[in-house]
Amino acid sequence: MFKITLLPGDGIGTEVVNSAVKVLKLIGERFNTEFEFNTQLIGGSSYDVNGTPLTDEVLGECYNSDVVFLGAVGGPKWEDLPHNLKPEAALLKLRKALGLYANLRPAKVYTPMLSYSSLKDEVLKGTDVMIVRELTGGIYFGQPRGYDEEKGFNTMIYSKEEVERIARTAFELARLRNKKVTSVDKANVLEVSQFWRKVVIEVHKNYPDIQLNHMYVDNAAMQIVRDPKQFDVLVTSNLFGDILSDIAAMITGSLGMLPSASLGSKYALYEPVHGSAPDIAGKNMANPIAAISSVSMMLKYSFQMDKAAEVLETAIESVLEKGYRTKDISKDEDNLVSTDEMTNKIIEEFEKIFAKEALNVFTL
Ligand code: IPM
Ligand code: MN
Repeated sequence: MFKITLLPGDGIGTEVVNSAVKVLKLIGERFNTEFEFNTQLIGGSSYDVNGTPLTDEVLGECYNSDVVFLGAVGGPKWEDLPHNLKPEAALLKLRKALGLYANLRPAKVYTPMLSYSSLKDEVLKGTDVMIVRELTGGIYFGQPRGYDEEKGFNTMIYSKEEVERIARTAFELARLRNKKVTSVDKANVLEVSQFWRKVVIEVHKNYPDIQLNHMYVDNAAMQIVRDPKQFDVLVTSNLFGDILSDIAAMITGSLGMLPSASLGSKYALYEPVHGSAPDIAGKNMANPIAAISSVSMMLKYSFQMDKAAEVLETAIESVLEKGYRTKDISKDEDNLVSTDEMTNKIIEEFEKIFAKEALNVFTL
């Protein structure tokens, strides 16, 4: 049995988490695995009830589960709160408290979506990039930090151990993919980046089968839209990874398609990369694919259910192939569907593929 803490959060978070749970329940049945769900508050919806975006009780529930599944946090309602009470603060606290130092954000092209990106088909075709973003260090957490009337300041700092472990994650992932790692930094200007580069080179000595190159972050931003196919695994610091992963979202055509996994040595959290989208919240319009695809990452990285993950990915691709689209990814000629309809289509497709595969095994 796997214990999953659900943190739907704010805005469309609730809707896409519902979709993810529907899919998980089906997978549990088909693959004879029991998932136990425990829903808790986070973000603005926690602030409204508890006066804080993340309570110690909820954190305790997360420590007590196998994985955490999060929807989204934030919204205009809570924008003017002090820094430490904002919904976003809950997410940062959770990442830090659970030690989720490795953030995996894959950006690959679904063939039926090729013409939906702002980038040209021929630039995109065959792109499959895994962004590995350091998530618990760097300028997001460095001390000192603050501002007064005269100045504002943050500190970008990385310890040897922090760089070593994220570099190892990147090399290990590359080993299961196309064996290429690009480390992104700003070593022409920042000492912290010179240090980062030095440590990555050191760690690389243990991975002679992996090709390593280095790129400055400004150039990397350009290269992602110029020729994304050149990348396999891209490893970078917290802030650079935040920015580059949004750019990379355009590879898939919409932020509504991008899943993520945040992994530490003990805990794991899965969440769609998109935000809470308050403008469409509660309207059954949100794209559930990023959340459902995050389920697929969870099956693969936390539960070693690779087959289930693969069937789910194929189901998503097949639904897109058939032309079903939520609003964020629709063009005139498409078959426009709601969040629930898209979820049900993916479930239907999953059932079909599953039945076919079962039959294959049976007849072999
Ligand atoms: C992300 C988000 C967060 C970040 C915010 C909401 C704190 O942009 O997950 O990419 O900056 O890490
Ligand atoms: Mn971001």
